Amino acid sequence: MSRRLCRLDEIPDGEGIGFSLDREEADRLADGHLQIFVVRQGGQVFGFANSCPHLSSPLDWIENQFMTADKTRIMCATHGAQFRIEDGHCVSGPCEGEALAPLRVSVRRGAVMLDGTTGA
Ligand code: FES
Repeated sequence: MSRRLCRLDEIPDGEGIGFSLDREEADRLADGHLQIFVVRQGGQVFGFANSCPHLSSPLDWIENQFMTADKTRIMCATHGAQFRIEDGHCVSGPCEGEALAPLRVSVRRGAVMLDGTTGA
């Protein structure tokens, strides 16, 4: 069963926001990740574990600051790695070639839903 995260309009377009899951939700829907985030692109959403492939730190050093200044990429605040929004692939920085752990998220009746891991 999916978990409702928020309303779509609670995420500013082009930005991302983070969520904390409880242990049961994390194990069931997010491969054990307790911290996740969702990026909005218009009516579309993209979800990832909030864990940088470089050192497993959260990406948002300042809460909910997940994006580059021009909002075209996800950025890790710790060492500046940049990731594609559509698939979390790291295109520059110390973990170039690696990727964020993707999660299945969707928008249903205006609500952002966490549906599971992409492999589930
Ligand atoms: S921890 Fe993310 S770039 Fe180093």
